[in-house]
This record gives sequence, C-alpha cells and structure tokens, in this order.
Amino acid sequence: MAKAPANFLTAIDVGSAKTCVLVVEITENGLRYRAHGLADSKGSRKGIIVDLDKAVGSIQKAVERAEDGAGFPIERAILGVAGSHVRGINTHGGMVFSRPREIGRDEIRQAVDKARAVPLPPDREVLHLLPQEFMLDDQAGVHDPLGMIAARLEVRVHMISAATSATQNVITAVNRAGVHIDDTVFEPLACADSVLRADERELGVCLADVGAGSTNVLVIQEGAAAHSAVLPIGGDHFTSDLSVGLCTPVAEAEKIKKLFGNAIVTLIPEGNEVEVPSVGDRPSRLVSQRMVGEILEPRARELFEMLRDNLRHAGMLEACAAGVVFSGGGARLPGLIDIADSVLRKPVRIAWPVPIARMPSALGEPEFATVLGLVAYGHRARSARGTEDDRWSARLKAMLVGKGA
Ligand SMILES: Nc1ncnc2c1ncn2[C@@H]1O[C@H](COP(=O)(O)OP(=O)(O)OP(=O)(O)O)[C@@H](O)[C@H]1O
Ligand SMILES: [Mg+2]
Repeated sequence: MAKAPANFLTAIDVGSAKTCVLVVEITENGLRYRAHGLADSKGSRKGIIVDLDKAVGSIQKAVERAEDGAGFPIERAILGVAGSHVRGINTHGGMVFSRPREIGRDEIRQAVDKARAVPLPPDREVLHLLPQEFMLDDQAGVHDPLGMIAARLEVRVHMISAATSATQNVITAVNRAGVHIDDTVFEPLACADSVLRADERELGVCLADVGAGSTNVLVIQEGAAAHSAVLPIGGDHFTSDLSVGLCTPVAEAEKIKKLFGNAIVTLIPEGNEVEVPSVGDRPSRLVSQRMVGEILEPRARELFEMLRDNLRHAGMLEACAAGVVFSGGGARLPGLIDIADSVLRKPVRIAWPVPIARMPSALGEPEFATVLGLVAYGHRARSARGTEDDRWSARLKAMLVGKGA
C-alpha cells in the first residue's frame, strides 16, 4: 500500500461496544469523508482495557477495514478517551507583572500553566486545560486576552484529568495495532464539536454521551467547558437488566431491547407479545412487551436522576438553559429522552451529528457523533498548529478558537 498522504486525518474511538476508525481528507472546503472501519469491541470496558490481546485484535480489525477503504496504511491517529477514570475540576491561576504589558501567547501559556499547579495524585495526568475566562487587572469575563494590556493576568480553567495507566493502556493497544497516537481527547469534548450549536454553547448546555458502559457528561456555558463527569450507567446496564429480568442470554436481551424496547411502559400497546429465548435447553416463551418496558423504565429514571443530581451538586443544573443533548447509541432507546424530559425538566434532544462531505448515511447516528467530533477537533488543532509547533499551546489555541464555533 502507498504511504498515507499528509492531508488526511484519522480518529479512533475505542468504545465498550464498538471500535470505530474514521479517515477524512482535509480539503480547502473543509473535511471530506474517505473511509471508516468498524469492529465489535473486545477486551475494553468503560474506557479501560481488560484484555490487551483482544482489544488489540478488535482495533486491528477496525483499522484494517478503514485502510481497505482509504487505500493507504493508517500510521497516526487521534484517540478518544472516556470512562469512569476521567475527572473534571475547575481551578484558576495567574500572574502579576512589574508593570502593565501586552499579553502575548507566552503570558497566556504561563497563566494557564499556573492553573495546572493543583496537586494531582501521581497516577493521574492532565488531559485538558480548558480556559473559561481571563481576568485582566479587575476586568473579568475576557475570552481572548491576546494583544491586550494588563499588569495582572488571571485565568479560570476547567481541568480534565485521567488515570495515566488507563489512558496509556488504550494507547498501547492502538500502538500494537500499528498506529501511533498524536493526541488524546476527552470524548464528549470532541463530540460537542459535531453536535452542539453555537447558541446552545453560549446559553449553557449539557452534552451526555450514553455509551455502552457509561454516560460521559460535559457542560458548556458561555462557550467554555464548565463541568465534566462520568456516570456509571450506559446502554449495557439496560441490556443486563433485561437479561436478568427476562431470564434470557445477554445477546438475546440486546436484540429484544433494540427491536421492542421502550423506556415508557404506557407507550407500549397492551396485548403485544415478544418471543424470549430461554437459557439452557428450555424452550422460548412469550412475554408481554410491556414487561420489557417495565424493566427498562426504572433504569432510565435512575440514569437521569443521577445526571440531575450530578448537575445540581456541581451547581450546573440551572446553567443548562439550553437543556441536554444526548449522543451515543444508548440514546436511541425509544422513549428514553421523554423520561429525560420528565426527570430533568429541561429541553432535551438527540444529537444527530452534522454530516461531513461524502459521508455515508450510516454514520449519521448518535453513536458516531464522537468519532466525527474527534476528526473535527483534530482538524481544528492542526490548523491552530500551523504557526506554532508546540503541542500544548496548539491545544489551548484550539480551544480558544473553538469558542462558540
Ligand atoms: N436502537 C437502539 N436502541 C437501544 N439501544 C441501542 C440502540 N442502538 C444501540 N444501542 C445501545 O447503545 C450502546 C452502544 O452505544 P455506543 O456505540 O455509543 O457505545 P460505545 O461508544 O461503544 O461505548 P462507551 O462510550 O460506553 O465506551 C449499547 O449499549 C447498545 O445496546
Ligand atoms: Mg462511546
């Protein structure tokens, strides 16, 4: 195979359910789809590798499928990071100069770096330092201080950290599949790129990615990241509830959930019946479809009560005036967002990713919003890096450029 051309970008999302590799071309008119590869995820759960060989195998499969479509080998990629080991906190930093001076990139970098100086346990690393606002002398609420004059520069930052070993193990698995990782990105941050609208970001919005293993949450307010969290419930918990409640194998429960599931019992017509395979040698049974709903509805309520409590505890519930946007395959369960509406009492919608040129319609589903966001994020960071080669400052610049985009 020929070498990968420079104007291509690859993103990898190693989810609990599926591994997705997306290759796009960077053109004058934006991003253009080139190829993608999908494989069932084996050996990874909730952002953590539990069986390295199996994880490498499914990443390799997805990479090879994408390479077949692209027509060249995939050598480098950006990688999504998510799961219960990720944490977000708000912090601040700053510096005082001997006399007023023009704020340049170096000053911004140093101020943001000061915000990094909160003690982190040795097994954690900073994934993102996302500036929320700058304060110049006594003037707060500055979004981009570049070129302004001040004697004191302070910055409030949302810092997202991850367990070093968990992140490193996913990187190792991707490396073993023959791909070098250029950058790691907290998945909802990338996903926000492909699904949130500028007015939602300004007003205050929560993005909740309901994956298979967990629900990854990011609140954006006034264009900047304000809060992030990972809730330990995803689509697979709904499936395992059905498996236990209906006494059927997990794979059958998954099919029943997708074909007949609804999170609102009363929306299921009375009298409908579903054939449920049994475990062991016992014959399959007919079960009322309403029973499927009766098992799913409490789990949906639990998830959204957890989300509501998390947002309230962080002082963010009222900040989400534009409501909650749901991505991830788990969000596709019929009735789910109606339950979200009734628990959260906020505007809710499903995130249908904005398509890129020549993208097959199969990728236009909420579970692909993250990988599409990863290429958009990678593209923005690469454009920002045009003049500066420092990886960290490019990342900061990408966030500043991205405000309200
Ligand atoms: N039509 C559907 N109805 C209900 N649930 C669905 C549907 N389609 C997919 N799901 C669920 O979505 C989940 C997979 O979503 P997704 O592909 O976003 O997860 P992932 O990215 O692999 O996992 P994670 O983000 O947790 O690592 C599974 O639990 C699956 O059962
Ligand atoms: Mg996911």
